[in-house]
Amino acid sequence: MAEQGFSVVILAAGKATRFKSEHSKMLHQLAGRPLGEYLLRTAFGAKAERVYMVIGHEGAEVRKAFARPGLTFIEQKEQLGTGHAVKAARVELARCPSPTVVVLVGDAPLHPAESLRKLVATHAKTRAVLTVLTTHLDNPHGYGRIVRARGGRVRAIVEEKVATPAQRKIREINSGILCFSREKLLAHLDEITDRNAQKEFLLTDLVDIFNRHRLKVMAFPVADAHEVLGINDRAELAQIEKLLRLRKAEALMREGVTIVDPEVTYLDEDVEVGRDTVLEPGVSLRGRTRVGSACWIQQYSTLQDAVLGDRVTVRTHSLIVNSQAGSDVVIGPFAHLRDGAVIEPTARIGNFVEVKKSRVGRGTKALHLTYLGDATLGERTNIGAGTVTCNYDGKTKNPTVVEDEVFIGSGNMLVAPVRIGKGSYTAAGSTITEDVPPESLAIARGKQVTKVGWASQSKAVAPPRATFTVREVGAVTVCEVGGRLTMGEPVELFRNTIHAQMDSGRALILVNLAKLMYIDSAGLGELAKAQMAAQKAGGRVKFCGVNDRVLPQIRAAKLDRVLEIFSDESAALASFEGRGVSLDSAPENAQ
Ligand code: UD1
Ligand code: CA
Repeated sequence: MAEQGFSVVILAAGKATRFKSEHSKMLHQLAGRPLGEYLLRTAFGAKAERVYMVIGHEGAEVRKAFARPGLTFIEQKEQLGTGHAVKAARVELARCPSPTVVVLVGDAPLHPAESLRKLVATHAKTRAVLTVLTTHLDNPHGYGRIVRARGGRVRAIVEEKVATPAQRKIREINSGILCFSREKLLAHLDEITDRNAQKEFLLTDLVDIFNRHRLKVMAFPVADAHEVLGINDRAELAQIEKLLRLRKAEALMREGVTIVDPEVTYLDEDVEVGRDTVLEPGVSLRGRTRVGSACWIQQYSTLQDAVLGDRVTVRTHSLIVNSQAGSDVVIGPFAHLRDGAVIEPTARIGNFVEVKKSRVGRGTKALHLTYLGDATLGERTNIGAGTVTCNYDGKTKNPTVVEDEVFIGSGNMLVAPVRIGKGSYTAAGSTITEDVPPESLAIARGKQVTKVGWASQSKAVAPPRATFTVREVGAVTVCEVGGRLTMGEPVELFRNTIHAQMDSGRALILVNLAKLMYIDSAGLGELAKAQMAAQKAGGRVKFCGVNDRVLPQIRAAKLDRVLEIFSDESAALASFEGRGVSLDSAPENAQ
């Protein structure tokens, strides 16, 4: 029998109520592809004559994602059920050249093209008007149940919601994949009503309608229940994702790939991996990634649309997106390659190195803490730790070229556009803004200045705050001033201290400056004022302990000529003696 031509209608307009999403369910990712992509591949893979997709919820988004030659979108404005969705396709179906139309629910993604062709062939052979693809499930919950008539024909499909307890026990379910005679489908489509518990137009009601017209409805059971699993919520999405992942892992293992723990290795469908490659736990290979043979992809590395040669090591926690690495390259740990980075064979990209849209030549190394953007590196070049290609000037991206056998010192800033000629060196810490000709050394950094002893001096200029201690030596009050005697509070405290003594009748004062660390002009002025104030009050203020830290200031202010300064305390005290002044601690007349 000649193969029968058929067309496919994919129902994809639903609101995905159970997904609770802003987006159409068809756009949610399943193992690296949007859900809707699966059945499109099935339909085109099975060589359907026409493929229609009924869209509604977030229709514009869906159209954009899936548009391709040979696919016709049909809009279902309101989502009133699967029967209503097929009604929306009526005009297109009337024009369709195929005698057979297969309706697929868009959320049962695992249906293979081969199985679709078998369904169509069986349908033709039995001359049924409708053949329902069914399977047996241990847990049929949520699916429409197949009610068989005597002789094996299908009498009805009863949805979970309206099924009797006895019907719920039926384990044969409707996959949602229905193969129709196009003519009969169109003839009876309008008999579907929404007068039911769900208040929806149910496509499955056609089984009963056809039976009433004594038209033949058959079942086509498939053994592999996975083929028909539907995705109605995100838990089911995760289950099927896992299934696909494990399937892919198993296929790769059979081809000679070692997968240490398939349960935690994330593999998209289209990924290719060569023999003797090892994938450690937590590895993700996404999109169209191709990994050569004998590679070693260590834990938690992610490759998205990456292409690796043979014997490539990708150390732990590396991210490679849209980039290539040749054979015998070593990458990572913690490396990031992106936007078309090309690492040529035997090159090495080390820890915390980011390579964007750059080419790294054979045998070249960039091993530590480096950013290479819009750069072209020659062969056998060494990029020092912490080097940055400054590729962006705030407006445009500029290129950096480093030729063969160059040595870039550590911590270089290569300000693009710039070219470093073959065999040249740049000094560590250089900021290279001009081209360097071949075989040269470029040093571009500030010359070192060393200030010997600077540190201890700088510590000396920040001594503690002003301190004042007062003690009596007979009739003389010794006031020791320490720290910083400067404008403001310190000077005021000093003034108050001196005046408090004079107010209490002790106008013979020796100011000992031995512990003074610093004095400013206000402090100097206050010393002079103290001396004058004492003289006015009939007393004396003298000074001793002038040290090297303050002597220059006293001299500069010419106060050494004004103040009565003694070399040490005992000499100063002695100078107060006589004329009724005693230095004994008890006054002479005290009894
Ligand atoms: C449907 C079947 C059920 C079957 C199950 C298999 C019906 C009435 N029920 O149930 O027998 O066991 O699939 O997975 O057919 N859609 C539209 N427009 C609408 C409503 C739905 O395009 O107005 C689309 C949805 O986007 C979805 C598909 O039709 O892709 C199925 O709809 P859904 O609500 O998921 O049906 P189920 O309850 O799963
Ligand atoms: Ca469903």
